[in-house]
Amino acid sequence: MKEKVFIFVALPYANGPLHLGHIAGAYLPYDAFRRFMILTGREVVSASGSDEHGTPITIKAMQEGISPKEIATKFHNVNSDIFKRMNIEFNAFIETSSDLHKMVVKDFITKLIDKGYIYEGNMIQPFCPHDNMFLPDRYVKGKCPKCGYENARGDQCENCGATLEPSELINPVCILDGYTPEFRETKHLFFKLSSFQEDMEKFISERKYWRDNVLKYSRNFISQGLKDRPITRDLDWGVDIPFPGYERKKIYVWFEALIGYITGTVQALNDYNGALEHWKDKKIRHYYFMGKDNIPFHSIIWPAMLMAEGEYTLPYYVAANEYLNFQGEKFSKSGGVGISMPKLLESYNSEYIRFGVFYNLPEGHDSDFSLEEFQNKVNSELIDKFGNFVNRALILSFKKGKINRDQIAQSQRDTEAEKFMRDSLKSIINNMENVNIREAFKVWLELARYSNIYITERKPWEACKKDDANCLASIYTSMKIVFTLAVSGQIFLPETSRKLLSWLGYNEPVMLHEDLDYPVAHVLQKPEKLFEKIMSKSLNVSLKVARVMDVMDHPNAEKLYLLDLDLGEEKRRIISGIKDSYTRDALVNKKIVIVSNLKPAVIRGEKSNGMLLAAEEDGKVHLVLAPEEAIPGSEIKIGDYNIINEEISIEEFKRHEIVTYEKDGDIIPALHENNSFIPLTINGKNLTIDGKVSKGIRIK
Ligand code: MF3
Ligand code: ZN
Repeated sequence: MKEKVFIFVALPYANGPLHLGHIAGAYLPYDAFRRFMILTGREVVSASGSDEHGTPITIKAMQEGISPKEIATKFHNVNSDIFKRMNIEFNAFIETSSDLHKMVVKDFITKLIDKGYIYEGNMIQPFCPHDNMFLPDRYVKGKCPKCGYENARGDQCENCGATLEPSELINPVCILDGYTPEFRETKHLFFKLSSFQEDMEKFISERKYWRDNVLKYSRNFISQGLKDRPITRDLDWGVDIPFPGYERKKIYVWFEALIGYITGTVQALNDYNGALEHWKDKKIRHYYFMGKDNIPFHSIIWPAMLMAEGEYTLPYYVAANEYLNFQGEKFSKSGGVGISMPKLLESYNSEYIRFGVFYNLPEGHDSDFSLEEFQNKVNSELIDKFGNFVNRALILSFKKGKINRDQIAQSQRDTEAEKFMRDSLKSIINNMENVNIREAFKVWLELARYSNIYITERKPWEACKKDDANCLASIYTSMKIVFTLAVSGQIFLPETSRKLLSWLGYNEPVMLHEDLDYPVAHVLQKPEKLFEKIMSKSLNVSLKVARVMDVMDHPNAEKLYLLDLDLGEEKRRIISGIKDSYTRDALVNKKIVIVSNLKPAVIRGEKSNGMLLAAEEDGKVHLVLAPEEAIPGSEIKIGDYNIINEEISIEEFKRHEIVTYEKDGDIIPALHENNSFIPLTINGKNLTIDGKVSKGIRIK
């Protein structure tokens, strides 16, 4: 009988599109592990879903002026689409606002109440006298008592990861209106986490095989003494409380979302009682994947909830990754750092993104992602090593036709290569089995590198001109390695492997095991090119043509104008300090160029949504202009850069040196990079500078 496993991955909040940090921290490692389990013959039930309740959703809904339900549905769809395009698969991807989930939660909580693990108590809660309401944790911000970070939330410090209570914050304020909350008493339900102190110590001590980061965090958490936790909140968006007197409160989002793992299995198996029977089956191992900020909820709170329930299986493995940073900074949805997945998928093939993430997996320690390094590695490792090797082997094999095992006699170099391949395969399987995904991928890539050297040294193309024995043996050996790379590659690069395997005549996934054998070297179909190199580099600076519609004086600043701009579909206002150089009349109808992806800023009480480009010489400002016929809203080309239009800060923009430059006697704007000048163009025409300026002046 097949071994059954459950594989779960933390439910992402449906309050924004996932970014690469989420994908690297949880979802891609999860997907690789799930694929591995299936390919090694396990019967997998996997689940995740959209975490749709709680303040992350209501706060976003407030910001966008739509209902929490609309926000949740919107980002449930956005994120489902991201997973689909990234080939990240689930047996079930639930929504926590669904009736099914609410039912599962109600049953679970009722059982805990019956067993006496949930009780009613009083709690001091922040109350905003101005809004006349109790505030949920995330509606309060303040200084972190643990690390001093100024912008800590009432539930958790994003800086040091500490879980907090609003009352612990130093100088707390209400996020709705900035008022200092009072702390008043109100009724809530509590979970008796304190009764699991010993059980939890035992639980963690039995899981010495977990990663260090998870063990350390959990041991530390337990050693501080487990305290009872409130599991209800003063909020009107969430799962109802099956208890009189709680009509205006909801279940705390974390308490309810974790139960989503049960809902997920119910949905995946399409059988409520059947799924619960599975939860009681202690032979089924449960694996959980998540980013490190989710550790205590999965290694302590959830196991304690399961202990309280009494019959269900506790986590076998809790795999938490560290953070993937973006060019030195922490990825953040709210802070505008990094690239969201929809943007990344506009520019790059999902296999390349998967490769880039596995190459840099933040497993064991934080890692850093930069677009430049990403493109380099795709080109120099995936394409030049793996792609090159595979391509050469396939073409040789296709030309040679079918080779039978008894036709060939391997040289020592061939058997050496085959041994390297076998050892690599073992190591990949072994590492995956122990959830060392980063290491498994490294071994896979090392096999590709090795093989590329092997085929270069062995030169089958020359051998084939001289003697058949060496020719056939080297092609045969190479094809064995191609097959091994393709089969084990199904874990990491499913599309690439599927293509390769289909050229070898396998139209179904090929199961993975240590004694993988490839009886005949035979390429059935003329192999196509596997990859296209990433030629254009990416630049996160979007410059657009804007026609000045109107010019007004800034009400609070003598030297500033408010410019109303026409960008085709879109109208915008920016603020600019060009009053000394341009009159209102000189500006109206000019086709200027703005940085269109700058984070909006408020300057002296007025909002500015972009910045115009101009050079300044001897105190006089010279605008960068687009040609007369340029259509407002069109994007300026910068060489063959691929423009990524993701919000950036002024500082980030300033890292790019745009200057006046002389070309064929004209002074034009260009990007200065690596000692060369890349002109800014539109429809093949250079932009111009208004008036006369020297070359080499910085454009700001
Ligand atoms: N939504 C949470 C987050 O993004 C994770 C919830 S995991 C769950 O951090 F299991 F509780 F759903
Ligand atoms: Zn902190």
